[in-house]
Amino acid sequence: MITIAIAKGRMQDDALTLLARAGLRISEEALASRRLALVDESGNYRFIFVKPADVPVYVEHGIADCGVVGRDILLESEADLLLPLDLGIARCRIVVAAAEPEVMQRDFGMLRVATKYAKVAGDHFGARGIPVEIIALSGSVELAPALGLADLIVDLVETGRTLKDNGLSIVEVITESTGRLVVNRASYQLKAPAVTTLLNALEATINGATRT
Ligand code: PRP
Repeated sequence: MITIAIAKGRMQDDALTLLARAGLRISEEALASRRLALVDESGNYRFIFVKPADVPVYVEHGIADCGVVGRDILLESEADLLLPLDLGIARCRIVVAAAEPEVMQRDFGMLRVATKYAKVAGDHFGARGIPVEIIALSGSVELAPALGLADLIVDLVETGRTLKDNGLSIVEVITESTGRLVVNRASYQLKAPAVTTLLNALEATINGATRT
């Protein structure tokens, strides 16, 4: 059996839809439950549902053979994983946003940047030689400028609605993010036939091939 860790939240529905199209189906009854580990109808795949940042941890440690997680999470992770497939799901951008974009031109003091993406933000401003203080938050980052905690945020944008509704606009796009399939190094060797079957099924689905 292959265990696949799925990032809960924004990625989950798109991931399950894609996996179902690739032939990995979960019964309606199982999906309706609150169980965090489910077996698909074929009995060949077990899905575990974990926080996005924990997907690389489960896969690196071999508890899960594979994972479905956003590139945004992988950019922050130090985990040693194989990254064989861009699934093209849950497309979004990691951006710098501000209430007052001209704050970027400020030539005194250090800019304070609130973010869930401390590494991405640090690398981005570091590469530009802009000194910043990173304020690490774990969610609702869009509140920080309005409440005076930060001058800027670095966060994920999908529709742009959260930024707009909180009076923020995009200053710069740092990078794009989509859902990725990651694979444990040992599983890739030891379970090669099963992992290859999964990769081929997903690849065929992504490329629009019709399954028989
Ligand atoms: C993400 C992100 C933004 C929002 C963007 O948060 O951090 O807050 O989604 O989406 P939008 O552009 O479609 O409005 P998420 O829902 O992952 O929750 P979080 O704030 O708890 O991280």
